[in-house]
Amino acid sequence: MIDLNVGIGKITLVNPTMLAAGIMGSAASSLRRVMSCGAGAVVTKSIGLLPREGHPGPVLAEVTGGYLNALGLPNMGLAFLDELEILSAEDERKPIIVSLFGDCPEDFVELAEKFCQYADALELNLSCPHAQGYGIEVGSEPAAVEAITNSVSRHVDLPIWVKLTPNVTDITALGQAAEKGGADAVVAINTVKGMVIDVESARPVLGNVFGGLSGSAIKPIAVKCVYDLYSALTIPVIGVGGISNYEDALEFIMAGARAVQIGSAVARDLSVFEHVAVGIDRYLATKGLTLEDVVGVAHKSY
Ligand SMILES: Cc1cc2nc3c(=O)[nH]c(=O)nc-3n(C[C@H](O)[C@H](O)[C@H](O)COP(=O)(O)O)c2cc1C
Repeated sequence: MIDLNVGIGKITLVNPTMLAAGIMGSAASSLRRVMSCGAGAVVTKSIGLLPREGHPGPVLAEVTGGYLNALGLPNMGLAFLDELEILSAEDERKPIIVSLFGDCPEDFVELAEKFCQYADALELNLSCPHAQGYGIEVGSEPAAVEAITNSVSRHVDLPIWVKLTPNVTDITALGQAAEKGGADAVVAINTVKGMVIDVESARPVLGNVFGGLSGSAIKPIAVKCVYDLYSALTIPVIGVGGISNYEDALEFIMAGARAVQIGSAVARDLSVFEHVAVGIDRYLATKGLTLEDVVGVAHKSY
C-alpha cells in the first residue's frame, strides 16, 4: 500500500478524494455515509444566510456525458448548523469543508463566522452558474473575488478555498485574485453553462431555462483549467469535473491538482471514492512512484 495522505495547507486527507459540493451534502446522515465510503474529506451543499427553495422544476436533466442542473442553491440556511454539530461530533469523521454562498463580502463574513466552529476549511462558492445575484454573478470579476476572499480570510482563522467558474475567458485571472485575497487553495471547476430543449414541446427542459453541465462531458475543460491554474498560482489547486474513475483522477493530478472532488459520479456509485483511491494506489505501486511525484507531472518536459 502506498501512502496516499495528502496535505492541502493545514488539512491532511487520508487519500486525495473528496465529495464535491451539492451532492449528498445537505444532511449529517448522508455526509457521514460518504465519509464511511472512503472519501478523504467531504464538502457540504452550499449554504447561504437564509433558507432558499431553489428554482422551479425540472431542476435536473440527464444529457450525453452528464447532467444539466439548475437547482438554484436550495438550502436550509443557518439551520444547517444543527446538522454540522451532529457531524462534527462523530468519532471517525473526516475533514469537513463547509461551502458558503452570498452576494457580498459582508454576507460571506457573517456566514464564515457562524460556520467556522464546525468546519476544517471553508469553500467559497463564487461560481454557481444559475442563481441570480450569487455564484458567477459575484465571482466572474477578479476584483470581487479578491475582495470577498480577503474579507473572509481576515475574519476567520481557517483555511479558505475559493471555487472558481470556468464560464469566463481566463480562469487564471480569477485564481490569481483569490490567491491575492489570501485563499489557501482554489477549487476548479464548477459547472459549465448549458441548456437543453425538448423538441416536442419546443420548450427548454429546465424550469430555469438554462443550467450547469457536470459529469464526464466537462472533464477536458476542467483538466485544462487545472493545468493553467497550476502554472499561474503558488497555492494548491483542487480539481473537479467529470471524475468517475482513477484514470480521470490521475489526469487532474498530473495537470497539477493536489486532490480531487467527485460529484455527478457519486449519484451512480457511492463506492467511487474507494475505487479511485485503490486505483491510484495500484498505479503508483506499479510505477514505483509516490503521489507527490505525480502532482503536475504533465508540465514537465523530458
Ligand atoms: C446536482 C448538483 C448540485 C450542485 N450543487 C453545488 C453547490 O451547492 N455548490 C457548489 O459549489 N457546486 C455545486 N455543484 C457543482 C459540483 O460541486 C461540481 O463542481 C460539478 O458538478 C463538477 O463536478 P462533477 O462533474 O464531478 O459533478 C453541483 C453539481 C450538481 C450536479
